Amino acid sequence: MRKKIVAGNWKMNLDITEGAQLVNDIFNGSPQLDENKIVVIAPPYIHLTQTASQLAGMDFIYLGAQNCHQEASGAYTGEVSAAMLKSAEVAYVIIGHSERREYYKEDSAMLAKKVNQALVNGMQVIFCCGEPLEIRDANTQNAFVEKQIKEGIFHLSAEQFKNIVIAYEPIWAIGTGRTASAAQAQDMHAHIRSVVAAQYGAQTADDTSILYGGSCKPSNAGELFGNADVDGGLIGGAALKVADFLSIIAAMG
Ligand code: 13P
Repeated sequence: MRKKIVAGNWKMNLDITEGAQLVNDIFNGSPQLDENKIVVIAPPYIHLTQTASQLAGMDFIYLGAQNCHQEASGAYTGEVSAAMLKSAEVAYVIIGHSERREYYKEDSAMLAKKVNQALVNGMQVIFCCGEPLEIRDANTQNAFVEKQIKEGIFHLSAEQFKNIVIAYEPIWAIGTGRTASAAQAQDMHAHIRSVVAAQYGAQTADDTSILYGGSCKPSNAGELFGNADVDGGLIGGAALKVADFLSIIAAMG
């Protein structure tokens, strides 16, 4: 049975004090979770050890990182390795976010290496994909996303692939207030699942959690998550507001 997941990607927001407060507030909100309905919190690197100790007493809320380096270690000033993240008790690493693809020129070859680093170090990957507006307007989004997935994660063995969560985040919906409709999300998620099925078989595809991201908020989370192939969300702005984040978590049902 695949997991439902709501993951909060804080991006480059909140200082140490604010981050601690937000995690505390989430805890006090007593989200109803279980082993198949989980939350991931992905703060900036500098928060990780603090957040890890806060999460130590919380069941079914896992620590995430927003990136990792593609090499194991070495002279890469300012970078953080997957092994370091693992040592900070990180369980999930977001790889291939559109902001990293665009602003830091992370291409598929680099992302595939990052995925390998995360898996070798025993973490799960939230692999992001999603098309820009011009691709959506040309109605070629299925092929675009399929290529991202094939290049980023289809080098993995079936055993390794069990540690992959996919997040579909249409770029035109990120931080814009313009959400994909429930039908657009469902269509793409079903397509992604069929692509995974063709490579790894129906069972693996059925077991893979596919999250939606892009202006997900309390007012649309229920409708989005109500789709057969939408297994939760990767949440940006609304993950910074405790009431909104708790409400989106509750929308997992
Ligand atoms: P928003 O929820 O702010 O649109 O961001 C989505 C996102 O990029 C999560 O990774």
